[in-house]
Amino acid sequence: MSALTSLPQWQTLKDLAEGVKSEHMRDWFVADPSRATQMQLEACGLFLDYSKNRVTQDVLSALFDLAKSCGVEKHRVAMFSGDIINDTEKRAVLHTALRNFSGSQVVVDGEDVMPEVQATLGKIKAFTESIHSGEHKGYTGKAIKHIVAIGIGGSFLGPKIMTEALLPCKSAAVDVHFVANVDGCHIHDVLSKRDHEDTLIVMSSKSFTTQETLQNTISAKEWFLSQGGTQEDIAKHFVAVSSNVKAATEFGIDESNIFPMWDWVGGRYSLWSAIGLPISLALGFENFKGLLEGAHDMDKHFCEAPLEENLPVILAMLGVWYRNFFDAQSHVMLPYYHYLRGLPAYVQQLDMESNGKEVTHDGSAVDYPTGPIIWGSEGTNGQHSFHQLIHQGSGVIPADFMLPLNVPNQNDTHHAMLASNCFGQTQALMQGKSFEDCYADLEGKGLDDAERKRLAAHKTMPGNKPSNTILFDSLTPRTLGALVAMYEHKVFVQGVIWDLNSFDQWGVELGKALGNQVLAGINGDAEKSSFDASTQDLIARFRAANAPK
Ligand code: F6P
Repeated sequence: MSALTSLPQWQTLKDLAEGVKSEHMRDWFVADPSRATQMQLEACGLFLDYSKNRVTQDVLSALFDLAKSCGVEKHRVAMFSGDIINDTEKRAVLHTALRNFSGSQVVVDGEDVMPEVQATLGKIKAFTESIHSGEHKGYTGKAIKHIVAIGIGGSFLGPKIMTEALLPCKSAAVDVHFVANVDGCHIHDVLSKRDHEDTLIVMSSKSFTTQETLQNTISAKEWFLSQGGTQEDIAKHFVAVSSNVKAATEFGIDESNIFPMWDWVGGRYSLWSAIGLPISLALGFENFKGLLEGAHDMDKHFCEAPLEENLPVILAMLGVWYRNFFDAQSHVMLPYYHYLRGLPAYVQQLDMESNGKEVTHDGSAVDYPTGPIIWGSEGTNGQHSFHQLIHQGSGVIPADFMLPLNVPNQNDTHHAMLASNCFGQTQALMQGKSFEDCYADLEGKGLDDAERKRLAAHKTMPGNKPSNTILFDSLTPRTLGALVAMYEHKVFVQGVIWDLNSFDQWGVELGKALGNQVLAGINGDAEKSSFDASTQDLIARFRAANAPK
């Protein structure tokens, strides 16, 4: 048995789970009218109602006991202090330093990093203002009107999804377009509509070794030159964001056009760094800064609030409860707000690339489930797609619903419908509809009793399906920053409970390496025998379909 499953707190939760599984949430709400208010919490502009969960006060206490026994508080201090907690890459984990407005130092390798963090923020601000004002011009003297942001993973998802979520805050000065996939269709779609004279390419890659981003940037450079630009003009139309300044300059990016980032910022935690440059360009620096300020609010809440009144800790421990004691395989994100439709994809990388692991810090195999599958999409669309399974499927799929109480250009009729669907779904998932009620509904339908019972069985909604509801007045940059940081810290806490290194991603390496070998095979530069029969056939079919005509 692992250290985790040997804990007495773990056994307590196992015992409590057996009891809870035979009870129904709808009975708890009837028995205790104060249940809802006891399981609600507000902080950093976010209101969380977690009362529609399969937890009693005893369960919550046991979950917080588990968090304490796993040392969540000690590990939290270690992260914020810059300890080397990413111990397979020997790195600190300090995305929190990027939004540290406390005035305190953050020391890495004996040096306070805040001056360079603030200098980079100043560079982002100045560059944004020079583009927006038209001071920074293209080589023919045109002001920059379009930004093409090239990156993938954490160098794409954060900038794209934050920009999309805050579209109502968009600057009129420029339009920002995103390219991630190495599928040539993506960059073709974007560049074919652009005028190279008023376009700026922002290439973002922490490592500066990612195949997709390098190739897309090469193609963008070829496009620029094919349109009439020269090598000397590149400096006015290409900037890069990377921790690998050497590679970026060797690639041909002027060093003055490189925005630095640091190895103590993980890719999926990097939107707060210069990776967020496209956000600043799209929304204006002050809105980008608002994101950072919101995240800082959440950092303070996470560090200061008791575990029992701590938004990230509550969400994390509820996730542990379902993952480890209800065998939940996934967790669904349901933003009832069109502009926030990308959030599931953002949290997908954040969570699954952090905790999609089965080895603990000391290299032992886990004997318990770890990171869940994260999925979801905007409400109400999901109700007409996958909610059937959430309501009547087998197993437990905990859900996070979220809704702004007000939206830009609000149509009250539409917004009331959106909210009623959001709240109606959480109520239906919680209370369900009993067989008896479905059977009664079928009276007088001309059915014999056997058919009536059969149909009632199909219509029965078990309920007892858990959900959290997160409300906020409106989605401002500050609120969004707090929301995203809340999920970052939720993932961190779960990584502590499961004793994982949430900050490396060795699992992506093999696919990349073999992909490069297959590329050699496709290009006819590798022995067929180096591939399995299936891959050989796939390569052969691709080569045949693309043989010179
Ligand atoms: O998916 C692996 C990964 O390294 C992510 O962690 C990262 O966000 C993405 O690829 C892009 O990496 P880079 O910013 O170094 O190009």
